Amino acid sequence: MQLTVTQTPINEYQGDALILFVPSEGELPAATATINNELDDFINQLQQNDDIKGKVAQTLVIPQAKGPRLILIGLGQQPVKGKDFIKALNAAASALKTSAANTAAIDIRDIELDGFDTEWAYKQIGQAFQGALYHFDECKSKKDENPNTIESLTVIADNTAELDLKFGQALAKGMAYTKKLGDMPPNVATPSYLADEADKLATMSDNLATKILDEDKMEELGMGSFLSVSKGSIEPGKIICMEYLAGKAGDAPHVLVGKGITFDTGGISLKPGAGMDEMKYDMCGAASVLGTMLAIIELELPINFVGVIAAAENMPSGHASKPGDIVTAMNGTTIEILNTDAEGRLVLCDALTYAIETYEPASIVDIATLTGACMAALGRVNSGLFTEVDDLAQELIEASNTSRDTVWRLPLQEEYQELLDSNFADIANIGGPLAGATTAACFLSRFTEGQKWAHLDIAGTAWHSGGKAKGASGRPVPLLVNYLANKI
Ligand code: BES
Ligand code: MN
Ligand code: ZN
Repeated sequence: MQLTVTQTPINEYQGDALILFVPSEGELPAATATINNELDDFINQLQQNDDIKGKVAQTLVIPQAKGPRLILIGLGQQPVKGKDFIKALNAAASALKTSAANTAAIDIRDIELDGFDTEWAYKQIGQAFQGALYHFDECKSKKDENPNTIESLTVIADNTAELDLKFGQALAKGMAYTKKLGDMPPNVATPSYLADEADKLATMSDNLATKILDEDKMEELGMGSFLSVSKGSIEPGKIICMEYLAGKAGDAPHVLVGKGITFDTGGISLKPGAGMDEMKYDMCGAASVLGTMLAIIELELPINFVGVIAAAENMPSGHASKPGDIVTAMNGTTIEILNTDAEGRLVLCDALTYAIETYEPASIVDIATLTGACMAALGRVNSGLFTEVDDLAQELIEASNTSRDTVWRLPLQEEYQELLDSNFADIANIGGPLAGATTAACFLSRFTEGQKWAHLDIAGTAWHSGGKAKGASGRPVPLLVNYLANKI
């Protein structure tokens, strides 16, 4: 999709469609009013006849015998809330995509936003229109010959809007990549596949190099915890390191660590069968690190950023771990595996130790579909945020508010740590029935002492579950890209 910025007024636009916003109360925004006047109060008439009431995201597409189609989009009340503005943009993008129109103009300069500036609004435009183009047909034998497209969007604004539009567009491309990796079937998207994807990203930028640890290397490094998971599968586990160094030489990098369980059966502590296919999404943390990397490459952000992925398949087999097994992690901690379904923390702990020792990070954030308990607590609205470092919590919350990819901070207190006590090893890999999201975070905290570390539990937010809506969400790429962009 081509994004163009022009100062030519919307009524002179020669393309296929005009996107015009209609509020539920009060004056029409300038762009809509201009067209309304040219059409002898046509839009006013539509409002009076209740054809368009202006409710947020209400959509009315009107073809004209001569001239561009009108795509009327409800805006609700002004000043418009951030989330409503995004809803309206998504409605506009989807109407444009599904209509016969392939090109459109939009002018939002006269819309009053509640607490967000026009720079934010342009980022949202880039994100919404690029984002609408996501489509997963990798595994269909017949591709759609005429897929709905948006060829170009002309934004009426001054030239400074261009950078923000591009930011939103890059973010949406990162999200689409994350979604695609998540939606891929688990017999294709294996740990080796994720490693190949990382290598492909490295060919896109001179600033990016990858380093992939295989199981032999992990054996050498003493990663007994990671290997206790990967050994249950014939798919070899990988730790994938992506080093993007476009910042000042020698500056400590910001590190993201993604959980990449490419399928989680639960292992010997086998999960129930219903809906188990959705455990292909247990690599969405990893996919979000890859998607964030893609966006950062597109934006050529001048930072040092390392993405690390702990990729393995959690399977029951003759080689799999059993409840009661005790393994030794890379940092020397012994772990009693009381439930083989708590495998995410087992692969992440060694990846965290490795990342900390190798990169001495300025900050380190892990992203994981870690616990059903987090989903029970926060539903599908917020990702869970755990950290003892208040500054880092603040930075992540701020990035989540601007991106509207929201998080909610949950406790990570000393008092919960004893729930991980084991009779036979240093710690157990589960903490019992209470505070499951927190005990998982406590487990990881044993491997990140003294670090500027946070943990994001995306179990509820990484994908839409069940039925027609089933599919990866691309979260928390918006949060992560904003978080990293704020570093410059
Ligand atoms: N990948 C799951 C968590 C999960 C479950 C995410 C459902 C999204 C939807 C994780 O590996 C897991 O199985 N966690 C267990 C931990 C328990 C055994 C302590 C869980 O949450 O039940
Ligand atoms: Mn599990
Ligand atoms: Zn899992």
